[in-house]
Amino acid sequence: MTTVVITGASTGIGRALALAWADEPSKPTLVLSARGESALAGVAREVEARGARAIVVSGDVTDEAHRRALVDRAASEGGSIDVLVNNAGRGFYAPALKVDLDELRRLFELNVIAPLRLVQLAAPHLERSRGTVVMMSSVAGIVAAPRYAAYAATKFALEAISMSMRSELAEVGVRVVVIRPGPVDTPFRANAARAEGVVGYDAPDPKSQSADDVARITLRAALRGSPVVETSRFVRVASAGARHAPWVLRRVLARMATKHERPGS
Ligand SMILES: NC(=O)c1ccc[n+]([C@@H]2O[C@H](COP(=O)([O-])OP(=O)(O)OC[C@H]3O[C@@H](n4cnc5c(N)ncnc54)[C@H](OP(=O)(O)O)[C@@H]3O)[C@@H](O)[C@H]2O)c1
Repeated sequence: MTTVVITGASTGIGRALALAWADEPSKPTLVLSARGESALAGVAREVEARGARAIVVSGDVTDEAHRRALVDRAASEGGSIDVLVNNAGRGFYAPALKVDLDELRRLFELNVIAPLRLVQLAAPHLERSRGTVVMMSSVAGIVAAPRYAAYAATKFALEAISMSMRSELAEVGVRVVVIRPGPVDTPFRANAARAEGVVGYDAPDPKSQSADDVARITLRAALRGSPVVETSRFVRVASAGARHAPWVLRRVLARMATKHERPGS
């Protein structure tokens, strides 16, 4: 029996991924984490309605006690940890000069330190199962657009940890999968922190991909152990621009810096 741990499973991409996994014929045990207990219980009911088993462990992934409880309960009640999906995360929209440093530290705790620490804690179980780590990165893990300095810094850091970890864990049979979505239609923008005076970013980006689409791609990547998957054409173009035409990308970003989003845009 497969046990899959998903952080940030109460809404957005995490919820969609839990439901996509619950539809798999293998009917895994899904261990669901997020702070919002009632939303998480709702996702657990949806998982169980699909014939899979759900274990709810609510808490804050920046809290070491929650991280230990999550790993311990997944291993004891689920019997193993086959997949750890580090998906919980938050945005932060601010020009670099207006980045609040305490907010930046909190963002690193959530987007970088929590995923790294969860892999450290789950490593013995993942080695035993020759399992898979999934890191939810972003197009912001390869391109830092204006007003994305803080958020992109966390996703660049997550990419670096994942790259290094991939080669280290290959020796013990654990695969590390990085997923890079572009804009996705979830409450992410509404939930993001922002500097005073930064407007817009409330409604999902009109170019958004659906959370179900990202979940389907993530599930396939996890089952195959694909090292890096960019989930949309938008991300593939940005990624190719960063690697092969950085001067073009610099011009596009400079133009974006002069545009300021308005509420609802
Ligand atoms: N949406 C996008 O456009 C987009 C694009 C690229 C990458 N991503 C990445 O995809 C991941 C999921 O984002 P999403 O779009 O699904 O966002 P979302 O709808 O805002 O969901 C975020 C999830 O993380 C949980 N979470 C937030 N802070 C937490 C904490 N301190 N401890 C535990 N859980 C916490 C939230 O639940 P609670 O609030 O109940 O804790 C929620 O379940 C993130 O890593 C994000 O950076 C998103």
